[in-house]
Amino acid sequence: MTVPVPRWRRRAYNVEAMRALARAQLPQPVFDFADGGAEDEQTLRRNETAFDEVALLPRPLSGAATRDLSITLFGQRLSMPVIVGPTGLAGLFWPDGERCAARAAQAAGTAFCLSHGSVCTLEELAGTGAAPRWMQVFIYKDRGFTRELTERAAQAGYDALVLTTDNQMLGNRERDIRNGFSIPPRFGLSGLAGMALKAEWLWRMRRDLKRVTFGNYVRPGEAADLKALAGRMASLLDPSMSWQDVDDLRKIWRGPLLLKGILHPDEARMGVERGIDGVIVSNHGGRQLDGAAASMDALPAIVDAISGRIPILIDGGIRRGSDVVKALALGAQACLVGRPQLWGLAVAGEAGVAHMLAIYRQEIDRVMGLCGVTSIAGIDRSLLHQNGRHT
Ligand SMILES: Cc1cc2nc3c(=O)[nH]c(=O)nc-3n(C[C@H](O)[C@H](O)[C@H](O)COP(=O)(O)O)c2cc1C
Repeated sequence: MTVPVPRWRRRAYNVEAMRALARAQLPQPVFDFADGGAEDEQTLRRNETAFDEVALLPRPLSGAATRDLSITLFGQRLSMPVIVGPTGLAGLFWPDGERCAARAAQAAGTAFCLSHGSVCTLEELAGTGAAPRWMQVFIYKDRGFTRELTERAAQAGYDALVLTTDNQMLGNRERDIRNGFSIPPRFGLSGLAGMALKAEWLWRMRRDLKRVTFGNYVRPGEAADLKALAGRMASLLDPSMSWQDVDDLRKIWRGPLLLKGILHPDEARMGVERGIDGVIVSNHGGRQLDGAAASMDALPAIVDAISGRIPILIDGGIRRGSDVVKALALGAQACLVGRPQLWGLAVAGEAGVAHMLAIYRQEIDRVMGLCGVTSIAGIDRSLLHQNGRHT
């Protein structure tokens, strides 16, 4: 007996199609919360278009009958160079969204990075056993809280710590302002009218909507009031953070430490000198500083600055297997995806994230085959037209 393929799966034929399906599922303010960027969304758009500027030069006569997509990162084998990046409030897109996404990543043989702003706590996520699992933190005004989260992550067996450096002030996300999106979500009259069309999401979330919170910020014995927690979180962000904070974190976290939000080669160089283990070239998916360079445009100078001393990861606008191959050809070791996991969750929870990862895998495999490359190590600048340099 053949099991029928769910209707969504037939329509989710690529990542952009998953975005369209997610849009149909979610109330507009929730869709826009994930989809939007800061201010005029220049950086958001650049992240994607930067990939169009890079062209591949295939060598089909290389005999790439089979392709091995696996990589080794910080001593751990991953089945492909795509990692699920940290996104706050994933539990708003599907009940228990973070644990669903982590399980899907584990099943796909890749790593999952939990956001500081997850709905479940970092301990609850660790309870799934999903690995490799990474934890993302900020430098808070209360340095004791940064230390506390770091120590909790170590206790809960996280494999790497990601310090996000580009969220020291909240970006100005004007779609959220226009939509009146708030945390916890409240929907005005026009929002409520649109809700009638989103009955599936409402029904699915009927219990969880009340429980959506920032799990890691709830103190023992404290009510998980999301509004109060969101206020506390925003007030904890600290634009005065500096390299001293990186040094302090380096002292307390013994495992791999990554800096996320690096765009300037000087910061990448400084990070290596101060003993960090990896950088994530990122502009927060265009959600923070509008006008910042696209990650892909910033990558080559960072590759030069680091000159192979530590792994370089990249995120922002990666929507195709060919984007992954282009980033690797320019010198990245792996890519993270942010919004695509939320679209996957919105469409079908764990199965949706699994499907999203399968799309990347198939596309990377096809691109490698068409380019005549048998392993990830075989992807380098020689695969790029004009060696990846823009004309
Ligand atoms: C809804 C949403 C929430 C996010 N929350 C976090 C977060 O808590 N911490 C963090 O470091 N990055 C966060 N990011 C940024 C992502 O980790 C990532 O840098 C970005 O989404 C990559 O771009 P992409 O969405 O184009 O793949 C968030 C992104 C989105 C879309």
